Amino acid sequence: MQTQITSSSSHQTSAELLFMNDVFKSPDSLIENISTAVMIFDDQMGLVSINAAGENLLSVSINKIQGQSPLAFLPDSQQFLDDLQRSLDEMHPYTDWGVELYLNSKKSITVGCIVTPVEIDDKKKYVIVELIDANSFTRVMREETSSIIQDAARKSLKGIAHEIKNPLGGLRGAAQLLEKELQDKNLKEYTQIIISEADRLRNLVDRMLAHESRPHKSNINLHEVIEYVIDILQVEADEKLKINRDYDPSLPGLKSDKDQLIQVFMNVIRNALQAIASNGQIWVQTRIRRSCTIRQNFYKLAAEIKIMDDGPGIPEDIEREVFYPLITGRPEGTGLGLSIAQSLLQLNDGSISYERASDRTIFTILLPLGVNNE
Ligand SMILES: Nc1ncnc2c1ncn2[C@@H]1O[C@H](COP(=O)(O)OP(=O)(O)OP(=O)(O)O)[C@@H](O)[C@H]1O
Ligand SMILES: [Mg+2]
Repeated sequence: MQTQITSSSSHQTSAELLFMNDVFKSPDSLIENISTAVMIFDDQMGLVSINAAGENLLSVSINKIQGQSPLAFLPDSQQFLDDLQRSLDEMHPYTDWGVELYLNSKKSITVGCIVTPVEIDDKKKYVIVELIDANSFTRVMREETSSIIQDAARKSLKGIAHEIKNPLGGLRGAAQLLEKELQDKNLKEYTQIIISEADRLRNLVDRMLAHESRPHKSNINLHEVIEYVIDILQVEADEKLKINRDYDPSLPGLKSDKDQLIQVFMNVIRNALQAIASNGQIWVQTRIRRSCTIRQNFYKLAAEIKIMDDGPGIPEDIEREVFYPLITGRPEGTGLGLSIAQSLLQLNDGSISYERASDRTIFTILLPLGVNNE
């Protein structure tokens, strides 16, 4: 028999649509597919279900709170509870963009809240609550804007790099010809300067253009890639490189371009190496993240790699623009390392972010494990 569901709203929210499909066969697996936090309460205000995004946002576990009222896991939420009850009694949906919820951990979060009461077979009533984290919404908007600006900066830089590359070859060739004609050996010093500076510029331009290629994805083992990079940097650093590894051995393989990921880890770990003092330390941590949004795409599983060091952190004056090309805080730096790392990760559907916490410089890299929801 077809289950009849009545919703009082004129159009359905994403949670409601899934719920309406077949909520009672497998409600958990249905709402699992939504990247925003979703909770479903029955008419006694007992929790029927919460998805993984909800568990993450509220720092709770479904096993401990199923069947309970919101008061059990959201202290001081009497008002919230009253609003849900009223919505259910009157079968009246509502949206509130500024709800402050206190968690059991004493932390409070501000969320946007979309509440939709539904009635099934004219007797069972439920209320679906979608919570949208206001902070993460603002963060996503900020990330989106900054990624548009960074893309534009990279594109114009590539244009300039192409323009420089062509005449450079001619300049170098002419200097070589001139050198052959020179009788006075002392003058060759000058042609050598032209040639070596042209080579230096050529290297720089090649670096600016190198990350244009499309990724050749294959199955790779992330830990092997990181170890390969560490081995190379170990040689560069002599004794200085002390790496503390904290790997999750259950991390599955992922589909990415191996050479591009090697370049990413090389750039980020080399930066850490350059930043630490002679007795400084570097940490590399890998974890599996569930229900993860990377650059506006939702993934059930992602690999999270944190590269941390106890150096002084990124200088404050360049902190906000550090992923832009040519932004450097080192006299001998070109400011391309992080910009290249970011665009290579984007080609592989990943992301990189920076934070400074507990006296550590932390770069977090996220890479999807499997295609969207696969
Ligand atoms: N782990 C870190 N600790 C402190 N500062 C850092 C760290 N990583 C990056 N930075 C700062 O960010 C700047 C930009 O880094 P990026 O790798 O993009 O360029 P770069 O290292 O200056 O030059 P290169 O192109 O050779 O990599 C650095 O110059 C440095 O000031
Ligand atoms: Mg660098």
